[in-house]
Amino acid sequence: MKIRNIAFALMIGLGAATNLLAAGASKQHIEDFEFSFEGPFGRFDQNQLQRGLQVYTEVCASCHGLEHVAFRTLGDSGGPSLESSQVKAYAKQFDVFDPELDDTRSAIPSDKFPSSGVANAPDLSLMAKARAGFHGPYGLGINQIIKGMGGAEYVASVLSGYTGKEKEEAGAILYQNTAYPGGWIAMPPPLEDGIVEYRDNHSNTVHHMSEDVSAFLMWTAEPKMMARKTMGLVAVLLLSLLAVLLYFTNKKLWAPIKRKETKS
Ligand code: HEC
Repeated sequence: MKIRNIAFALMIGLGAATNLLAAGASKQHIEDFEFSFEGPFGRFDQNQLQRGLQVYTEVCASCHGLEHVAFRTLGDSGGPSLESSQVKAYAKQFDVFDPELDDTRSAIPSDKFPSSGVANAPDLSLMAKARAGFHGPYGLGINQIIKGMGGAEYVASVLSGYTGKEKEEAGAILYQNTAYPGGWIAMPPPLEDGIVEYRDNHSNTVHHMSEDVSAFLMWTAEPKMMARKTMGLVAVLLLSLLAVLLYFTNKKLWAPIKRKETKS
C-alpha cells in the first residue's frame, strides 16, 4: 500500500517535471524591452504614445481595428494627450457606419475606431492585456515579477521577431517568428526600418517602432494604469502609517501590565 503511494507521488512529480522541461524547451523568445510604464512608479511616456499612434495609423490600421477605443480618449491626459482640434482632425480620417443615417460618414471624437478590416487580423484594443510576455524559464512567470515583462513585451517581440523565412501551408503563407507561439505567424512582417517618419526625429528602426506601437497598445488596453499605480502607492503609504499607529497603540495598551510584570 505504502509503496503504491510512493510510486504514485513519484509519477505525479515526474509528470510535473517533464511539463516544466517541455515548456522550457519551446523556442518562443520574448525580448525584455525597457518600457517607461514598468514598476510601481511607471508612467506612460506621452511622446512615445504619440509615436505609437502614428505607427498604428500608418501601418497597422490597414488590417487591425481598435473597436473598443473612442477617438476622444486620444485627448485624455495620461494618454497621447492630443489637443482637441488634433483629435477632431484625426477622427476625420476614418469612416464609420452611422445607423441613424443608414450610411457611412467621417468619424467624430465620440466615435470609436473601426474594427479590423482584414478578417483574420484580430482587434488590437485589448491585445497587450490578452497576451503575456512572462513565460520565462520553464514557464513559471518569473520574468513578470523580476523583469516586469508583460503583454507589451510580447507584442514588441512579435513585431521584431521575424527571421525572414516563410513557408506555404494549406494555401496560406506563414512567416517564421521567434516570439509567436508555434513559431509561424500569418501576419506578414509589418515593419521595416524607416517605414514611418517620426515628427520628433526619434529613431525609427524596427526595434524602436515596435517598442512605440506596443506602448501605445498597452495604453489602449489599460488607459487608467497610471491612476491605478498612484492609488496603489497611496494605499501602501496609508497602510504603513496605520501600522505605525497600531504599533504605538499596542504598546500603550499593554504598558500597565508590562510594568506590573517587571515589579513582581
Ligand atoms: C497585412 C495585414 C496586417 C498588418 C499591416 C498588420 N497585421 Fe498584425 N496581424 C495580421 C494577421 C492576419 C494576424 C493573425 C496572425 C495569425 O493568426 O497567425 C495578425 C496578428 C497580430 C497580432 C496577434 C498575435 C497573437 O498573439 O495572436 C498582433 C499583436 C499584431 N498582429 C500586431 C500588429 C501591429 C502592432 C501592426 C502594425 C505595426 C500589425 N499587426 C500590422 C495582419 C496584419
